[in-house]
Parts: sequence; C-alpha cells; structure tokens
Amino acid sequence: MKLPSKVKLVDVGPRDGLQNEKQTVPAATKVELVHRLQAAGLKEIEVTSFVSPKWVPQMADNAEVMAGISRQPDVRYSVLTPNMKGFEAALASRPDEIVVFAAASEAFSQRNINCSIAESIERFRPVTEAARANGIRVRGAISCTVGCPYEGEVAPERVEMVARLLKDIGVQHVGVADTIGVGTPLKVQRAMDAALKHYGIDEVSGHFHDTYGQALANTLVSLAMGVWQFDTSIAGLGGCPYAKGATGNVATEDVVYMLHGMGIETGIDLDKLIDAGQFISDFLGRKTNSRAGLALLNKRAG
Ligand code: HMG
Ligand code: MG
Repeated sequence: MKLPSKVKLVDVGPRDGLQNEKQTVPAATKVELVHRLQAAGLKEIEVTSFVSPKWVPQMADNAEVMAGISRQPDVRYSVLTPNMKGFEAALASRPDEIVVFAAASEAFSQRNINCSIAESIERFRPVTEAARANGIRVRGAISCTVGCPYEGEVAPERVEMVARLLKDIGVQHVGVADTIGVGTPLKVQRAMDAALKHYGIDEVSGHFHDTYGQALANTLVSLAMGVWQFDTSIAGLGGCPYAKGATGNVATEDVVYMLHGMGIETGIDLDKLIDAGQFISDFLGRKTNSRAGLALLNKRAG
C-alpha cells in the first residue's frame, strides 16, 4: 500500500452535521463550533449552505453564522450554493469556496434539489462562472455514488458521467459522496475510480456517511488509491434531510485517530478536537457518535 504522508480533512459538521438537526441550533453555537474546529487545526470548514430556508430551516441563519466567524487567514471557509440565488446571497459572506452539489441518481437529484441531473448542471454553470470570476474556488459534490435511497445501487458509469459534466463546466474539485453510507470498500473504490477518469488525484475527495459502519474502511481503501482529502464531521454529526435513515458523516475524531495511528499527518490536535466534539454533543444533549472521541473521553475521566 502506498499511502499519502499527509491528509487534509474538511470538517463538514457545521453544515452537513447540523442541517438535519430538529432542534434549533443558535447561530452563536454554530460560530463557537467553527472557532473550536479552527483552534483544533482544521484548515477547511464547511460552514453553512445558502439553500431555501423552507427546505432546510436549520441553515436559514447562513449569513449570520458567516458574519460571526473570526476568520483565520490560513483557513478556507466553504458554503453550499445550489443555484444563482444561493450564490448571490453567499457572495456577501465572502466564502473562500462554494460547493455545488449534484447526484449520480436522478431520483435523489429531484428530491434533494428539485431538478434533474441535467438541469442541475445548467444551474451550476453560471454559479461556477460567477464564482471563478470572483476568485472563489468551486468544489462539486456527487451524492449517491454507490447507492441511492430511492433507486438502490448506483453504477460507477453514473458517477463518471456526473464527474465529466462537472468538469466540463469548470468545477475544480469533486467529492465522491456515499450519502446513505451503504458503500463497502470495493464499490467505493469503483466510484472513486470513475471520478478519477475526469479529475486528478489532487482534485478528488471522499465524503462518507457512516450509516452502516463502513466509512473508515472506505476511507482506508481511498487512501490506498492515493486520495488524501476527506470530508468528515465532528462527533459524527449529520445526515441529509432528503436521505431518510442516513446518519452522520464519519467522525473527524475517528479519522484523525486512525491517520495519526498510521503516521499520517493531519495538522489536527486530537485533544482539542475531542473538546470541540464534546462541546457540540453537550449542546445537542447526547453522546458523541465518535468511537475514538468516546474512548478518549472515558480515558480522561478514568
Ligand atoms: P425550488 O423550489 O426548485 O426553487 O428549490 P425555485 O427556484 O423554484 O424557487 C422556489 C422558492 O425558493 C422561491 O421563493 C425562491 O426564491 C426560493 P418564493 O418565491 O417561493 O418565496 N429559493 C431560494 N431561497 C434561498 N436560497 C436559495 C434559493 N433558491 C430558490 N438558494 C432549491 C430548489 C435547490 C433551492 C431547493 O430544492 C433546496 O433548497 N433544496 C435543499 C437542498 C439541500 O440543502 N440539501 C442538503 C444538502 S446536500 C447534502 O447534504 C449532500 C452532501 O452532503 C453530499 C452527500 O452526502 O451526498 C453535499
Ligand atoms: Mg453529506
């Protein structure tokens, strides 16, 4: 196995993690979470999304959260923008990067963003052009790259097609997402290979939800392919409101524990990360979803 010596993690907890929460999380709590993540050494944080507040009420405070962050110059703050309306609203918040999100499944595209895959690409085209004209990086996410809650298994050819369409409109990076966490390592490898037909190894990342407990294995198989960028979520928070039953992303703490144990650098201080996870878990009134986080908290207590 030829593994990367360094890995970059994007903590998507404030966005993917909190978007699905039923209880209102005040903007100040989200801002505090972002501050704790950057204090722990995260260099990229997915802060919020500029989507319809009718669809995702939890993200309605997007501008307030962005305005509340004390920015560090070496941290990249990203936000989701599904269309020009979202992009125009996001622009005032000066994101370093925007994320357009497509799906490899037609049914999921319809449920999540209310349009077909082809229509979504036409919506992303002007968003991508406008972002790049404003010096903002553009990342793409492909949902349901191995399985869809409505269509079942998704063929790698679908992933390849969406990766090609995103590449054609100028999207600079693509995240291969297992939205509902059904993927197992060889299927994820095939999905990743499909994205790599159109993007270089430095332009792809893994975004694995951990619903079936496969996310660390899927991370490891991707690392073995040379992939060195992953989306993870503090305390394993998360889920997509339009993917019923899907749980959070792989916990940042678990991935950091694994990587550091393998001698792979992340620049992240695991102790501070555990504190950030405890902060948000305490606020939400439940135990962390991170196994490493829980083990290290128990160790501290004992
Ligand atoms: P739509 O209803 O088709 O949009 O929604 P529309 O253009 O027809 O407009 C309808 C209304 O929405 C109008 O308002 C617009 O102004 C408003 P009205 O006239 O009725 O008062 N609107 C907006 N408001 C705020 N921000 C906007 C915006 N756009 C239109 N950007 C839309 C289309 C995409 C907006 C909608 O479907 C939506 O917001 N969906 C939510 C999608 C979402 O946030 N999903 C979760 C994130 S994706 C995810 O979690 C997956 C990921 O983690 C990877 C993975 O794991 O797979 C990334
Ligand atoms: Mg997700």
